[in-house]
Amino acid sequence: MKKQIILAGIISLFSYNQIIAQTLPYLDETLPVEKRIDDAISRMTLEEKIAVIHAQSKFSSPGIKRLGFRDFWTDDGPHGVRPDVLWDEWEQAGQTNDSCVAFPALTCLAATWNTDLAYIYGENLAEEALYRGKNMMLGPGVNIQRTPLNGRSFEYMGEDPYLASQMVVPYIKALQEKGVAACVKHYALNNDEEYRHQVNVIVSDRALHEIYLPAFKAAVQQGGAWAIMGAYNLYKNQHNCHNDIMLNQILKRDWQFDGVVVSDWGGCHNTEEAIVNGLDMEFGSWTDGLTMGKTNAYDSYFLAEPYKQLIKQGRFTTKELDDKVRRVLRLFYRTTMNDKHEVGFLCSEKHYDAALKIATEGIVLLKNEGDILPIRNAKRILVVGENAIKMMTVGGGSSSLKVQKEILPLDGIRTRFSNAQVDYARGYVGDTVQSYNGVTVGRSLVENRTPKQLRTEAVQLANNADYVIVIGGLNKSDYQDCEGHDRKQYELPYEQNELIEALIKVNKNIVYVNISGNPVAMPWAKRVPAIVQGWFIGSEAGEALAAVLSGDVNPSGKLPFTWYNNLNECGAHATGSYPGTWRDDNKIIDEEYKEDIFVGYRYTDKNGIKPLFSFGYGLSYTTFNYGKATAPKHWNKGSNITIEIPITNTGKTAGAETVQLYIQEQNPRVARPIKELKAFQKILLQPGETQLVRFTLTEDVLQYYDETAHAWTANDGKFRIMIGASAADIKSTISVDYN
Ligand code: BGC
Repeated sequence: MKKQIILAGIISLFSYNQIIAQTLPYLDETLPVEKRIDDAISRMTLEEKIAVIHAQSKFSSPGIKRLGFRDFWTDDGPHGVRPDVLWDEWEQAGQTNDSCVAFPALTCLAATWNTDLAYIYGENLAEEALYRGKNMMLGPGVNIQRTPLNGRSFEYMGEDPYLASQMVVPYIKALQEKGVAACVKHYALNNDEEYRHQVNVIVSDRALHEIYLPAFKAAVQQGGAWAIMGAYNLYKNQHNCHNDIMLNQILKRDWQFDGVVVSDWGGCHNTEEAIVNGLDMEFGSWTDGLTMGKTNAYDSYFLAEPYKQLIKQGRFTTKELDDKVRRVLRLFYRTTMNDKHEVGFLCSEKHYDAALKIATEGIVLLKNEGDILPIRNAKRILVVGENAIKMMTVGGGSSSLKVQKEILPLDGIRTRFSNAQVDYARGYVGDTVQSYNGVTVGRSLVENRTPKQLRTEAVQLANNADYVIVIGGLNKSDYQDCEGHDRKQYELPYEQNELIEALIKVNKNIVYVNISGNPVAMPWAKRVPAIVQGWFIGSEAGEALAAVLSGDVNPSGKLPFTWYNNLNECGAHATGSYPGTWRDDNKIIDEEYKEDIFVGYRYTDKNGIKPLFSFGYGLSYTTFNYGKATAPKHWNKGSNITIEIPITNTGKTAGAETVQLYIQEQNPRVARPIKELKAFQKILLQPGETQLVRFTLTEDVLQYYDETAHAWTANDGKFRIMIGASAADIKSTISVDYN
């Protein structure tokens, strides 16, 4: 009986598949996807084609119900899965199943310099996205950190194109292997927030290709990204969401991108440009009263009715439309039409473990005079600062989350140092807002005392403490590392400098923990013995910070950007090019990137500037010795070379070190940076252990972008290969002849 049923099942399945193959090729899984797409397109009406290329709600676009293609759901991005908003409004939908795990902000991920962790990040985020029914995450972001005032630096991966490229690829691969599309953003040149809708960037081809595009290119060519988000700003007077050079020429022609170009929310401005200049899916437009809640406002989108009318009037054929639809269908086959992926799960132990691991590896120990860290045997610890009790997963713009759990720094420290008396003093008041976009921040931050009273309290308690841990910095409120605006100044806000100065006077053991996605001015840096960069590190923040402060975790993060003493050390500011010059019509602000390719350490190197902390810098509780690097003297064109260097852990604690390799052309024909990061490896060493680190370099590490030839090229000649612990700490240099 059983056998018969199975047999009947097989036969019916077989005939079902036969029928599908013969009558509905677009559903036939044995056919190549492009053939299935051909068939689907041939069946679609004009209305259905128009429908799939624009939104139907804040975060979804329609499938093709008649043909069985499901609706497509997307969400921010990039640090966790954003809580659901209403269909047509930004208000919370009030779901009970959308509290997620917040992973550390991408600056922290970059600071791990650990590509395995980037993979783990993508994998765990994908599992949360799948549970929440999201087919595409709006992230990761790889805009280069050009100025520390950029409100969104925390969502990006630092100042260096090579580091960002290396970190973004595994994140995308892991996400997409689980069936969730990455939508890499914001392509391109979206390097500041303040006038993001009006900035027209003027930049040399060299800087474009050498600094601002490599991470996007790696995302497309190595990561295989299925989607890319056009940026709000303009390049060559054309919005990036429908920019011929950026989308048609570079992305689709040169890089052979086969995915979907998604507009940033409200980044599309013109139907005809959007048709011909490569935009494939329009989201978030504020057309014709959309913000007023017009019924079916989505029909007014640039790529909706207006596009349909142009086709009906014969002003366009369906040539461009079919290409857009083909790309969208490809995305559907990769996501909604791929039933083989898992269901996913939310807030699992595994996800918290991943968030914790990334957070602890990304924390950077910037200063540790007299080895005052880790804190051991303390009887009385005083924690000072609003950031010790403030939820940082809420706020900051579109990356804001609703978390199931966020361990605050004060709580993490109290748990970890349970043998000590841990006191708390607020010290300063920053942002007392109790909720963000409908998500409440937990602990009440209302405070009625004056700044002076708060300082006095902190100083009094500091008198009797063994250690004072100040947890300050920025806080993701407007102008303090937040989407939509840049910071107004490099200095710490809310009179934090006054607070720190007052504490220095009464206690020698001050540990300053800075929470931010950007560097800040630290005029007191020489007088504070320990400084830690704590980032915005998500659900496990307090746990991770306490683990590092107590020495249970040996810090191994390194800065993904240069930490300037002041803004004059940063090229965008020193050259007077930020934020640009308004045109007479007051509608467009031209921002010329006058520092050109000299961004971050490339600028400080060129100008002999010694920043407060350099790119790639970060201390450990142990010490490392770099031996002598060895490499062949000649590098024959067309071949690779291998460089080796022994690294020893010379301390008493196990620890990880990121060994960095920089290249310099010795007698360049065009201006070139003194050094450029071209390889790195993070290794874990036990006390006394030595490891031989081996780098195999391909010729492309020697190349620059030749503006005349519009191609990457390397000249014959001498190159210096520098291996070090940071951009300012080169331990071993060798010279090779390339010809
Ligand atoms: C942001 C994007 C985000 C989108 C959707 C835009 O304002 O720039 O990064 O993905 O909103 O929330």
